Amino acid sequence: MRIGILTSGGDCPGLNAVIRGAVLKGTQIHGHEYVGFRDGWRGVVDADIVPLGRKDIQGIAKQGGTILGTSRTNPFEGRGGVERITENLERHGIDAMIAIGGEGTLAAAKRLTDAGLKIVGVPKTVDNDLGATDYTFGFDTAVQIATDAMDRLRTTGDSHSRCMVAEVMGRHVGWIALHSGMASGAHAILIPEQKTSIDQVVEWVQSAYDRGRAPLVVVAEGFVPDHENDAHSERGLDAFGRPRLGGIGERLAPLIEERTGIETRATTLGHIQRGGTPTSYDRVLATRLGLAASDAVVDQRWGRMVALRGTDIVHVSFEEALDSLKTVPQNRYDEAAILFG
Ligand code: F6P
Repeated sequence: MRIGILTSGGDCPGLNAVIRGAVLKGTQIHGHEYVGFRDGWRGVVDADIVPLGRKDIQGIAKQGGTILGTSRTNPFEGRGGVERITENLERHGIDAMIAIGGEGTLAAAKRLTDAGLKIVGVPKTVDNDLGATDYTFGFDTAVQIATDAMDRLRTTGDSHSRCMVAEVMGRHVGWIALHSGMASGAHAILIPEQKTSIDQVVEWVQSAYDRGRAPLVVVAEGFVPDHENDAHSERGLDAFGRPRLGGIGERLAPLIEERTGIETRATTLGHIQRGGTPTSYDRVLATRLGLAASDAVVDQRWGRMVALRGTDIVHVSFEEALDSLKTVPQNRYDEAAILFG
């Protein structure tokens, strides 16, 4: 068999480890040939294909980003569509695809599988928001980077007696904020799942300050203050029609300063959270998912995604994978909230 791999959507530490795992097992154990599509679905639509042999994947598990490139291209828009993709695959003798991506990528993979194409999915998102898998690779790295950044912000906060606001990614879920905020001892963690009033934030900040602490407020980019309806978005929509988030931290900082009189600064961590070397946890998880994806091709599990349940790798349908957004449950927020203020 000839298998094509693509990495699609936002880049994420661990993508290369998945590619390596799949190619190694696929070529060495299953006797398959592997190729890569450049820049996600863009490479599938344009038949932009590169060979992926053992030499090409040597030593890449520790590299961030993706050696194949990625994009947020929607394969059904512009020149794309089922007919053109099927034609490209036939012309290049590609029997099946492994699509590594998040919600947008898997939704596109499902549409293509429903149309008869042979696709296996691998979940990827630093946001950790796919319901069908316990953890996604990249999340652990993002949390570690955010925690390191917050430790640094706290030294400036302590030195200047300032309140520091750190904005992290996560789209419409608060996992990165919850974990990095707990790890760094934040005095308030603001997540999309919990409507919180500015009065409450101010109370937590003031109480930490009154104890002689420099308050740290961690806010997820998708947080919606209780007097608003939507997450802050000022950069339009992405290729899948989803709002590009970011900027809520900069909006909160002056409100906190005005209400408390405490000098307040905001930092948006942005893409730093997705960059660089994956943690060992993410390398291992990503490698295991890559190995399992190559097995899933042998077992012809089309329309299914490899996933983590506990410590086991399992298979779930694309429907199940897309069915629910994994939000932060109330009990996880409540246990963290004991530490606020
Ligand atoms: O889904 C991953 C993610 O990093 C989100 O946390 C964030 O909202 C978005 O991607 C940013 O996308 P882009 O890299 O296209 O700006």
